[in-house]
Amino acid sequence: MTQTSTPRFRRLLVTGGAGFIGSCFVRDVLARRDGTQITILDKLTYAGNRANLAPAEADPEQAARLRLVIGDIADPSVVGPLMAEADAVVNFAAESHVDRSILDPEAFLRTDVLGVHVLLEACRVEAEKARTGKRSGAPRFLQVSTDEVYGSVETGESREDDRLEPRSPYSSAKAGGELLARSYFVTYDLDVVITRGSNTYGPYHHPEKLIPLFVTNAIDDESLPLYGDGLQRRDWLYVADHAGAIGFVLENGAAGETYNVSGANERTNRDVVAVLLERLGKPWSLVRTVQDRPGHDRRYAMDGSKLRALGWTNRMPFEEGLAATIDWYRDNQEWWRPIKSGEWDAYYRRQYETRLAGSTEAER
Ligand code: NAD
Ligand code: DAU
Repeated sequence: MTQTSTPRFRRLLVTGGAGFIGSCFVRDVLARRDGTQITILDKLTYAGNRANLAPAEADPEQAARLRLVIGDIADPSVVGPLMAEADAVVNFAAESHVDRSILDPEAFLRTDVLGVHVLLEACRVEAEKARTGKRSGAPRFLQVSTDEVYGSVETGESREDDRLEPRSPYSSAKAGGELLARSYFVTYDLDVVITRGSNTYGPYHHPEKLIPLFVTNAIDDESLPLYGDGLQRRDWLYVADHAGAIGFVLENGAAGETYNVSGANERTNRDVVAVLLERLGKPWSLVRTVQDRPGHDRRYAMDGSKLRALGWTNRMPFEEGLAATIDWYRDNQEWWRPIKSGEWDAYYRRQYETRLAGSTEAER
């Protein structure tokens, strides 16, 4: 995270701050020890986890600047008073897993679209107060979006002004959320900025996603369900780099602008799986070819030059970040084993039981 001795915003409302990227943002901002106060609003869905905040909560100086409110961003009665106390809001809160959006789209519309609307309306109330002298300055609103809004990019790299062509219920809901945020800049002159990040990886990543699922399954010598031919391409971004870029845009981004946060690390899924098996000393025979994800986006790739021109660059090389991530899962089994039980079992059966039953050995 960028070191700033006097941060522009002292009181942050971080929605979804108990999730994967949000909690990294919170831990890193608090660790700067620059006086920033953070209120997290998080519903603690299956993906939210208080344990993600443990390092900050264990440090008395940081804990004194952190408050966790358990609640829904789609609930105006919870959001209103929190927005009244905030200098800026960073909205990480979302349903975030593509496969779950294919099984059950409704929760995605509720949080990723209607939830964003509730946050924006509360922000509008505060902006009006600022205009009438009832508070000193309107809150800045940062919407955390995704490269998936561009849809599948067969060649080249998406730029910020490219057409949005989302193809899954998840990415369509995310596109709806960010378009709504932009409309509040255009229509109500709210101070809105948007980031579109690429596939993020690192510690505290929920084990439903590719890298943590395959690492934790491999540790237990369980099958690794590779969708289709495994030649889909993703651009991988280390979580602290993604969180740092969001902090940087919060401080330096221009109102109404959107910034791609590219990892500049494009790999096929097969390549990623081969590296992680090698590091864990596990055989390729664990990998099973299973029925593909419906509507599976073949490739994501973004041009990150706009954010680089503003002064941000990623720090973590992919090989180093992936090795550190694999080691973290090997060394922190008390974090992920409880997540892979309870609700997990029903989800895993629904998503993978038939797929694994019909699977074949994956060719090397
Ligand atoms: P995550 O699923 O790990 O965390 C989401 C958090 O939001 C959880 O703590 C959950 O409890 C909370 N939440 C969900 N619904 C809520 C609601 N209605 N009210 C309050 N809190 C709620 O997600 P993540 O991977 O950390 O992603 C964070 C954001 O970044 C999302 O908006 C996602 O779309 C975006 N993003 C993620 C990636 C990635 O690769 N993980 C890449 C680009 C963008
Ligand atoms: O690109 C940014 C997006 O990256 C974020 O907006 C999403 O929140 C995040 O979940 C992620 O979406 P993906 O669908 O790309 O990530 P996931 O980890 O689910 O899958 C990565 C690739 O691995 C994808 O091509 C599907 C494949 N895959 C995934 C799983 C879970 C498999 O082959 N097998 C699996 O079991």
